[in-house]
Amino acid sequence: VNIRLARVYDLTGMQACNLHNLPENYTLKYYMYHSLTWPQLSYVAEDEGKIVGYILAKMEEDVPEGEEPHGHVTSISVLRSYRRLGLAKRLMIQSQEAMATVYKAAYVSLHVRKSNRAALGLYRDTLGFTVKDIEKGYYADGEDAYAMRLSLKHLA
Ligand code: ACO
Repeated sequence: VNIRLARVYDLTGMQACNLHNLPENYTLKYYMYHSLTWPQLSYVAEDEGKIVGYILAKMEEDVPEGEEPHGHVTSISVLRSYRRLGLAKRLMIQSQEAMATVYKAAYVSLHVRKSNRAALGLYRDTLGFTVKDIEKGYYADGEDAYAMRLSLKHLA
């Protein structure tokens, strides 16, 4: 399995992977917007030409005066038969490095369901994210989100 930068022609494969894996889905236009605005931040995991995992990431756009720029993971997922191989970890690290080096991101943020054990294991235990806040009823079905962060200062 190869990890590489996402190109515009990968976006339909990323969207298909997202539809398999998560209830939070996005228009193709929104994938395009990520890829065209921050072309260095989104990556795919590819196996024999098939997209088996992706990270869709961006820089936060509405940063108040005086605050540092930061990255945000919009969505990450890996197809079920490719899980626990370290692909999500590799996708996260590639994107984090680009956020820090290309855009001088001070940290990366994301939202995750309180009940998502696998993703929490990845973010908190493997990558070192911490919970910054709880956002009540963040998801469409009413579940709360953890707002998590990881400093990227060491990569600057
Ligand atoms: N249970 C507990 N810990 C886990 C699990 C699990 N099921 N899966 C991964 N982890 C942790 C472990 O610490 C693991 O390290 P280890 O295998 O050495 O123990 C570490 O994360 C790295 O695992 P990876 O193999 O890199 O993770 P994987 O490629 O399997 O992908 C992911 C993890 C993306 C959460 C996957 O399970 C998935 O696609 N889930 C469905 C979609 C999803 O929930 N995406 C995240 C939503 S939040 C957001 O997008 C911002």
